[in-house]
Amino acid sequence: MKRGDELGAVIEDLAVEGKSVARIDGFVVFVRGGVPGDTVRMRVRTVKRNFAEADLIALESPSPRRTEPRCRYFGTCGGCTWQNIAYSSQLEFKRRHVADTLERLGGFAPLAVPAPLAMADPFYYRNKMEFSFGERWRTDEEMAHPRMEGGATGEIIEPALGLHLPGRYDRVLDLEECWLQSESSARMVNLIRKFCFGHSLSVFSTVTQSGYLRNLVIRESKRTGETMVNLVTRDDRPVIMEQLTRLLLAEFPSLTTIVNNITERRSQVAVGEREKVYHGTGTITERIGTRTYRISANSFFQTNTEQAERLYDTALGFAHIRADDVVYDLYSGTGTIALHIAAGAGNVIGIESVEQAVEDARKNAEFNGVHNCLFLHGDLKETLLSSRRQGEPLPTPDVIIVDPPRAGMHEKVAREIVSLAPRTIVYVSCNPSTQARDLKIICQSQEYSIESVQPVDMFPHTQHIENVVGLAKSFQ
Ligand SMILES: C[S@@+](CC[C@H](N)C(=O)[O-])C[C@H]1O[C@@H](n2cnc3c(N)ncnc32)[C@H](O)[C@@H]1O
Repeated sequence: MKRGDELGAVIEDLAVEGKSVARIDGFVVFVRGGVPGDTVRMRVRTVKRNFAEADLIALESPSPRRTEPRCRYFGTCGGCTWQNIAYSSQLEFKRRHVADTLERLGGFAPLAVPAPLAMADPFYYRNKMEFSFGERWRTDEEMAHPRMEGGATGEIIEPALGLHLPGRYDRVLDLEECWLQSESSARMVNLIRKFCFGHSLSVFSTVTQSGYLRNLVIRESKRTGETMVNLVTRDDRPVIMEQLTRLLLAEFPSLTTIVNNITERRSQVAVGEREKVYHGTGTITERIGTRTYRISANSFFQTNTEQAERLYDTALGFAHIRADDVVYDLYSGTGTIALHIAAGAGNVIGIESVEQAVEDARKNAEFNGVHNCLFLHGDLKETLLSSRRQGEPLPTPDVIIVDPPRAGMHEKVAREIVSLAPRTIVYVSCNPSTQARDLKIICQSQEYSIESVQPVDMFPHTQHIENVVGLAKSFQ
């Protein structure tokens, strides 16, 4: 096989980043945009030692798993890589991925993994969207035209407001519609774009480190309907912000709060060192279960409210908590799992390494009148171990719930959890691969075994899947 070869193939499987897998005489070829079951013609782009990459040039016989993508930007925007796959097939791929990963990386015997808990409507599910200002992405044809070639000096020639193209942090797709948050959020983006570019406001360039507009973050509570608009800029221009606020409120009178985050940081992070509130209190509220959360522009919150509730309910169901149990919520973030389970427990101890998140967790507990949760700040690699070493042990846990980041747990933490010998361990994960690796460590000594598995689909039309595993202490 060599670059430029045109070959016929049947797509067999899905890989990451919108790619699919075909095999030619057993040799793996990644094809962008294929769906398992498609018969395609493809042109080989690169050949490496263990795999090749090819472009799909003709769809000879489409897979029955295909569906018409709803979004006109599908295939260009990196937001939804699976919108061309029927939702039921997406769920089946995710289910199989969880089952295969537990078997292959975790070394577990085949497990009966149920279908992921699905969304009734897999569109408009996000409560937060972060849009960027930047140089508009142009088609290859436009790029080939020398007069259109902007941005070479780092100056923004043709501004856009939307999402970055996958792998192109220097180009922004000027989105006029998006099916991820809501119809009104797309209208807000369009109004703000018109205002900003109509007033010739400059766009921040990471090359020249100049320009005013950086990001637009819209947070929209799915349960209370409250909405926040947060414009992230490089400097403070109150007159502009006041004009924009008046315009937004005239068009969207029910907007709850409008804020301006200001940052001169070199990197593109939509968080300001300073925040100015132009309307409302600077916060919105959202509900998960019986709890209400106050969310500010920069606080972390699960992006899919409906599915976060189902995720936490699943964790609660697997935990088998008794009324006087001590429960650890490890990697507790802003305390949402701890608060979700607190009513049925004796005491809950949350441990989290980001200080701001710990402060938010304490505030969330107070706001909800919850008094049996203690939130500790610290790195889990040290806190659990050192608190024991220093002779001030935390109360022994009956149940441990963990929800680590994508990288999973440090091996030391996995072993420490086993040595604390809780009756039940619940592992919530956004990455089945690291989860399988960690579960292998936890189950190595045969003190624990997997009792239940339940994937939850938090991000329809993407490859991402959350998975909850319940472990019980083996009878000895
Ligand atoms: C997937 S989030 C879980 C958040 C929370 N459970 C929720 O549902 O919103 C993982 C959290 O682990 C925290 N974290 C990452 N590494 C850590 C460590 N070594 N020790 C303690 N916390 C850590 C992150 O700051 C983040 O808040």
